[in-house]
Order: sequence, then C-alpha cells, then structure tokens
Amino acid sequence: MSGGVYGGDEVGALVFDVGHYSFRGGYAGEDSPKTEIPTMVGVINELVECNAMEMDGTPGMTKKHFIDTTSIHSPRKGMEMTTFLKDGMIEDWDLFEKIMDYVYKKHLKSDSLLHPVLFSEAPWNIRAKREKLTEIMFEKYGIPAFFLVKNAVLAAFANGKATGIVLDSGASQTSAVPVHDGYVIQQAIVKSPLAGDFMTLQSRNYFDEHNVEIVPYYAVAAKEVVKEGEPAKWTRRSTIPDGLTKSWTNYMAKGVLQDFQASVLQVSDSPYDKETAENMPTVHYEFPNGYNQDFGSERFLIPEALFDTSNIKGISASVMGMSQIVTTSVGMCDIDMRPSLYGSVITTGGNTLIQGFTDRLNRDLTTKTPPSMRLKVLSTNSTVERRYGAWIGGSILASLGTFQQMWISKQEYEEGGKAQVDRNEVIDRQTVHSYIRKRHSFSEHFSTCLPFNCLFTCVDSVVIAMLNTGVFAGKTVFISGGSRGIGKAIALKVAKDGANVVIAAKTVDKHPKLEGTIYSAAEEVESVGGKCLPIQCDLRDEESVKSAFEKTIKQFGGLDILVNNASAISLTGTEQTSMKKYDLMHSINTRGTYMASKYAIPHLKKASNPHILNLSPPLVMTAKWFENHVAYTMAKYGMSMCVLGMASEFKPDGIAVNALWPRTAIWTAAMSMIGAGDPGMANSCRKVDILADSAYGILSKNSKSFSGNFVIDED
Ligand SMILES: Nc1ncnc2c1ncn2[C@@H]1O[C@H](COP(=O)(O)OP(=O)(O)OP(=O)(O)O)[C@@H](O)[C@H]1O
Ligand SMILES: [Mg+2]
Repeated sequence: MSGGVYGGDEVGALVFDVGHYSFRGGYAGEDSPKTEIPTMVGVINELVECNAMEMDGTPGMTKKHFIDTTSIHSPRKGMEMTTFLKDGMIEDWDLFEKIMDYVYKKHLKSDSLLHPVLFSEAPWNIRAKREKLTEIMFEKYGIPAFFLVKNAVLAAFANGKATGIVLDSGASQTSAVPVHDGYVIQQAIVKSPLAGDFMTLQSRNYFDEHNVEIVPYYAVAAKEVVKEGEPAKWTRRSTIPDGLTKSWTNYMAKGVLQDFQASVLQVSDSPYDKETAENMPTVHYEFPNGYNQDFGSERFLIPEALFDTSNIKGISASVMGMSQIVTTSVGMCDIDMRPSLYGSVITTGGNTLIQGFTDRLNRDLTTKTPPSMRLKVLSTNSTVERRYGAWIGGSILASLGTFQQMWISKQEYEEGGKAQVDRNEVIDRQTVHSYIRKRHSFSEHFSTCLPFNCLFTCVDSVVIAMLNTGVFAGKTVFISGGSRGIGKAIALKVAKDGANVVIAAKTVDKHPKLEGTIYSAAEEVESVGGKCLPIQCDLRDEESVKSAFEKTIKQFGGLDILVNNASAISLTGTEQTSMKKYDLMHSINTRGTYMASKYAIPHLKKASNPHILNLSPPLVMTAKWFENHVAYTMAKYGMSMCVLGMASEFKPDGIAVNALWPRTAIWTAAMSMIGAGDPGMANSCRKVDILADSAYGILSKNSKSFSGNFVIDED
C-alpha cells in the first residue's frame, strides 16, 4: 500500500449512515449512533432587501434552512419540507452540506479535520456521486481519511455475516441485496416501494375512509376525554401562524401516523383472514387530539399489503411483496450461491420492526424456497440493532485493526484524486474475514485452555462493540459493588437487554472522591431499559448478605446470575499493611465472594443458564504477582479459588463459575488503574466498557459447557 496509510485508530473515526427517514452519525467502536436527525429539512424562501444579489438563488430571494426535530417541528409560515436524497442517493449537495455542517457543529461538536469518515451508500449508488462525496469530504471538510461502503454490506456485517441476502425495509423502499463475501451482487438487487412510507400512506387512507382527521400535537391547545371511536373534541391552538405549507402539515401528520404504525400494526403470521384477525386482541390507541379507538382486524389488514400485493389500489402489478423480493433476487444469482443466500436472510431497517414482520417473512419464504435449501431468517431482537444495522456494521468495521490500512488517506486523495474511491469498491477479503472472525471471537477463543486453566482471550476493539443480543431480557443479575466502575458497566450492559439488575453495594451517600451511589446507578440502569433494585449491603455482614438475596427473590422471583465484583484494595507491602486493611480485603474479597455465592447457589440451581462471574485474576503461582502486595493478592486469589472449586462442585447443577480480569492490571502491575477501595476497578470508561462487553460474552455462554475459566481481557 502507498505511503498514505492512515493510522485511523489515533482519533475516533466517524461513521455516517443516510436514509430517507433519518441521518445517523457517531463514533466508530460505539454500539449505537451518537446522533440521529430527520433527513427532511425545512426551507423558507425569504425576500431580502439589501445585498440581494449576493444571496443564493433568485436575486432578492434567500433560502433559510431549518434542520433537526425541534426546529422543523415548529409551525412556520411558508416553510416547505424537502430532502437532499432521491432513491437513497444524494441529489441536492448544497442541502447535504447544510446537514453535515449542522451535525459536526451541533451534535458531534468536533472539528471535521480530526476524524476519518466512513460513509454508507445505497448499493445502487453511481460512480459520479461516489466521487462527488469523496471530493466534498476531503475538500470541504478536510477529513484525514475516507471510506465508502454499501449499506447492505454493513448490515450483513453487523449480523456477523459476509454472505447473505439483506432485506432492508426502511422508509422509502424495501430492497433485497445479495452479498457474497462482502461484495454486492449488483445485477441481482431487487427493489420495491412497499416500505415504511407506504405503510403511512395505507394508514392515512384508512383514516380518510373512516373520516378520522389526523391532528398533530402542535395544533392541539386542549382536548376533552371522549369515548372510544367517538369524534374528538379539541380546540385548535390559536398561535399557529397562517400560511403553513401542505408539505409541512403532511410531514407532521406523517409523524403521528408513524407512531401509530409502530404501536398498533401487526403482520398476521399467515395470509390475512378476516375472521381470524377479528378474534385477535385489539390495541387501544389515542391520537394527540383525544380521538381513540380499539384497533382490531385493521391492525392486520393495513400491513398485509406488504406481503400480499393483490389488493393494493393504484400500484403497478409489477410491485413485489416482501418474500417475492427475496426469492426474485436469489433467483437472479448464480445457482451455486443460492443455498448460502437462503441460509442467511438478514432483515434490517425500521419497517421490519412492525410486529410479526419477520415471522411472516419466514413463513412465506418457507413455502417458496425449494425443499433442498436450508432457510434461515436472521433478525436481531434488538430494536436498536435492527434500525441501525448499517451504522453498527460501519462502527465495527472502522474500528477493526485490519481495516486501518484500507482508508483512502488525504495524501492518496491528493495524489490520485477522487477516483481513488472507486478502488475501494470492495472491501478486501482479509478484512471481511478478520471481521467475521472477530465477531465470533468469543466462542473461538474460549475453546483453548492454558495452564492453570487460564484463558488468554485477545479481545480486539471489535468486541468494544459487543452487541446486545437480548439474551438477558427478563433475567435477574445480582452485582456486588455495582454503584461504579466495572460493576455498573456490567449492570448497564445487561440492562440494555431488559434485565432485572440488583445493585448491592455499600455506597448510599455520596462519597467525596468517588462518583455514584446505588441510587444513581439504579437510575441509570432504568434509563437504558432495565429494572433495578438497589440494595444497601455490607458484604462483611452475613445477615446483610442473606437479606439482600431474600429481597432479590421477593422482588424478581428468582436469580440467574451473580457477579462478584466488590473488592477492597491496598497495594501495600507486608510491613505497611495494617491488620485492619488485611481483614477488610479478606472479608470483602475472599469471604464476601464465598458468602454471596453460598447464598446465591440455592436460587441459581433453579435457573435455566446460571452463572457466577468473579472479577478476579488467574491463579498464577509465581512470586511476581505477590511480592509487592501479598495481602491483596491473597485476597484476590481467594476469589479465584472460589472459581476453581465451585466450578467443579456445581458442575452437576449446570452452574457456570468463571473469572474475568483485565490484562493491563496484571501485566503491567499497573494497579493504579484500579481505583482506590471498592469497586475494585477504575472508572476509565473505555476499559470498563470493554470489560463489561467481555462479561456480557461470558454470561451469554452455555453455563453447562463454559465453566471454570479464567478469562483475561485485553484493553
Ligand atoms: N418500531 C417500529 N415499528 C414499525 N415501523 C417502524 C418502527 N420504527 C421505525 N419504523 C418505520 O421505519 C421507517 C424508518 O426506517 P429506517 O430508519 O430503516 O429508514 P431509512 O434508512 O432512514 O430510510 P430508507 O431506507 O428508505 O432510506 C419509518 O417509516 C418508520 O415509520
Ligand atoms: Mg435505510
């Protein structure tokens, strides 16, 4: 590779993914975009009196732009809604630059000169547009490095696949894009206009036919409670300016209907049948003006059109439904490729989130695929991953070590011009495979065992983005010392799946030096989607520990996972360690871990995939680990000895007992990264998040087969 290799991991790369519904942007390595703004922009043409000739557009006229939700949601005279995209490709470059300026300045709050940029593009994007984007990013934004990847490829990556057929149903259209080894099979792309906007239109038609007016919040000053199905009684806000445009009022009504779609619609699992649909549970929905209704069969009838196009009025007969898009696309691919495509039908895009969408797709495809083919529809349960599939794939790709040599650097651009972007039409195989390997690194690395039963896993940056898979939804996770640091990070990670988290720690009052109490941690856990029971617990006190488990069972009805994270630390030599410190470390670390495990085990025995995870080091019996802090190491090794012993002891019960420890803490003996006192590890976010991701990986594993391991995590 030429001299222009960009060492992209020094500053965080940015990842941008554009869609007709929204523009997503954020830092590579994170698990969801930092920002999402509507792709639609408000524009007002204003008559300017002085210096008119210097303005954009017609002499005397200037365009005023309104970007982002708050700004476009306020009613303004003459504001037209418009977009810079057409058929998934950038059409209006000025408008696009306005959005980019805005995102850098207001959301990312960072200088574009600092960050390499990875952009997603429509699989059918054309060369002139690829080059134009490259030029703008280097010339206008002065970025240090650039890369463009097809959004379908990124979505496949996010699902851990380099080969598969990506069914992307977003706002403007649905497409089936076959991807083989990270390459798009261009000639077999199939598209259909049936997607989210079409659902909005169908919903709108339904309400028009039933004389229900869709009134957005901005228009409502007051409303009365009315009975189900009765006309709304509401008063219009008096401060709304005259001269609202049709494009704006439609846009606002669309927002209301999109919420209705997400809350009410459901795809029936077999072809729509009126009688069956009428017997399904209804969903009550209230509109901003107070109109409310129990939606029954119409919940199923409206989205039926996505799968059965025969009854849609006013569309051409060639428009295809969801499963037909897939089968047609696969049929256009080489016969040898078909089994691997049917073997990975990857669903992505917001419209696939309509309840029942993937089940119906699966059913329809089952009836249509040849019996010799193994069909597998892949769909992550996480809403975030389904909506941001392409962004997440980009986030992982741009943070891969092996990808760093692939950036087009500024120097290469300056030497070779914008056509450089075309050499990157495909991502090289090595990167694809490295990615897929890393994505599955957890399972692979875990299969080797080292002396002392130690396992040294190399956790590359890709695992920073260890994606939530939803496995902990409804599970109960008890974490000792979870008010800060690694304990809290694990709590938040499982809470994102919707877990019940018990934070048992001693910090109730604000500590002058350390941030966070069990209550502030509990608030955070709940804010990301988990349930949290904060318990003040002294691990030295048997009654306190016993009662913490009793409270847990009372609240959540069971226990699935115990994380022994609480730890006391004093990195002092034998002469300097007071016996008080010695006792504290032993009673929290060794005795506390033993006791918490003891009281957890009866409940864990009843769980379906029970785990105990101790945050403690591998049992390496050499002087090096002891000589500078004998008391601390003995106390930590006590936690590890619990792993060694209990893993065997409770193997017949299927309870996994494992240890996790950061490599830096051991190899550099840089114990300074370990914060003073409980909670055992420093609050350095990145390290802590990587550890939490590793913990997530371990706890996701089958407890019957993955036990007794000492996992070392690299930071
Ligand atoms: N939970 C949900 N249930 C149903 N529909 C949803 C849900 N969430 C989002 N949508 C719909 O998904 C669409 C947006 O999806 P997405 O973000 O994938 O689109 P996009 O990538 O911006 O657009 P496009 O792919 O057309 O360029 C909108 O029509 C929205 O109403
Ligand atoms: Mg999209």
